[in-house]
Amino acid sequence: MKLLCVVGTRPNYMKAAPVIRALSGWPEVQAKLLHAGQHYDPAMSDLFFRDLALPKPDFNLGIGSGSHAEQTAGVLVGVERFLLQDRPDRVIVFGDVNSTLAAALAAAKLRIPVAHVEAGLRSGDRGMPEELNRLLTDHLSDLLFTHCEEADENLAREGVAAAGIHRVGNVMIDTLQASLALAERSDILERTTAPAGGYGLITLHRPENVDRPEVLGRLLEGLRRAAKRLPLFFPVHPRTQARLRTAGFPSEQDRITLLEPLGYLDFLKLMRHAALLLTDSGGVQEETTALRIPCLTLRENTERPITTRLGTNRIVGTDPDRIAAAADQALKTPPKGQIPPLWDGKAAERIAKILMKKQHVSLSAT
Ligand code: UD1
Ligand code: UDP
Repeated sequence: MKLLCVVGTRPNYMKAAPVIRALSGWPEVQAKLLHAGQHYDPAMSDLFFRDLALPKPDFNLGIGSGSHAEQTAGVLVGVERFLLQDRPDRVIVFGDVNSTLAAALAAAKLRIPVAHVEAGLRSGDRGMPEELNRLLTDHLSDLLFTHCEEADENLAREGVAAAGIHRVGNVMIDTLQASLALAERSDILERTTAPAGGYGLITLHRPENVDRPEVLGRLLEGLRRAAKRLPLFFPVHPRTQARLRTAGFPSEQDRITLLEPLGYLDFLKLMRHAALLLTDSGGVQEETTALRIPCLTLRENTERPITTRLGTNRIVGTDPDRIAAAADQALKTPPKGQIPPLWDGKAAERIAKILMKKQHVSLSAT
């Protein structure tokens, strides 16, 4: 069986790594890896291939940055070309970025079946580019791997056939569990002088937060106020870098240290020893739930409500007073949280088994 896994951006690597590893245990599978190159800086790409021991991609489209149409169209053309030459039996896509949707569309148009890992997530906010990518990718896929009950319900509500939906658990948590011991060996606490258990960690990159100066201004004021309670460390996503410079953030009196975007192992160690996360990342909401660390989500909604229903995540929005009050509250009485069912480090193994079964069924039908 020839499979093609497609990645394009930072969060895709953590989702693809355990699936590629699980597939390598099946001798009858030949799995190739295509990198769309939507993220390309060493700190947004190469570093993760090293940290996660991912195989070198068989091909990199080098699509780079651009408008949504430019990125999506570029990946669509590049993936189609690759598929026509390579003719895999199935394409596997991850998450909700532009590269995910474009690869799924290229494959579906060539009638190559698509499996979507992390299917069924919905924020209900169609103003987010990722929401459109999720919806369309799910409806192009015949195998939908979900990580919670809500995702199954979302898909059922949209009329997706139950036979294609498989609740397998969370591949990002597979990677987290497999990497914890290695991450402990990182010297990031020494390098940053972050006091274990006594600091907060920030990530921000959503366009609706960082590309709108009035929203960014409110967020930065909230972070400044939270920093009065504890020092904050902030590895800055490339989208956000210039915006912070323009905003003159942080000032010298703020106890906020900016860092370059970190590799996975450094970031995991910094996250694990933090007292609090302040973020608009999707993946970080899940990882903090798995680590049982308080997380304040600086958005008005989430496509991952299970992290608030069971986990340690709280939706706080962008108002400075709410951010400061929520940080106070989370530090005084940290939420205990539960780890959602099937977030147990074995999701990718379940995915590999289902892929093999599906393939055998379709072979016996021909
Ligand atoms: C993308 C995804 C988002 C995901 C995020 C993960 C879409 C629509 N968005 O957002 O869902 O949460 O990745 O991090 O697919 N840049 C660099 N170097 C890089 C990559 C990007 O400098 O290696 C800069 C460029 O100025 C670029 C900007 O970051 O224009 C945004 O990159 P892009 O891939 O368009 O979107 P992200 O904000 O990274
Ligand atoms: N991450 C990382 N280094 C950083 C910031 C985040 O390795 O400096 C990891 C984080 O642990 C998670 C993933 O990147 O696994 C989340 O990616 P991101 O926030 O870029 O995207 P999203 O999840 O919001 O789509």
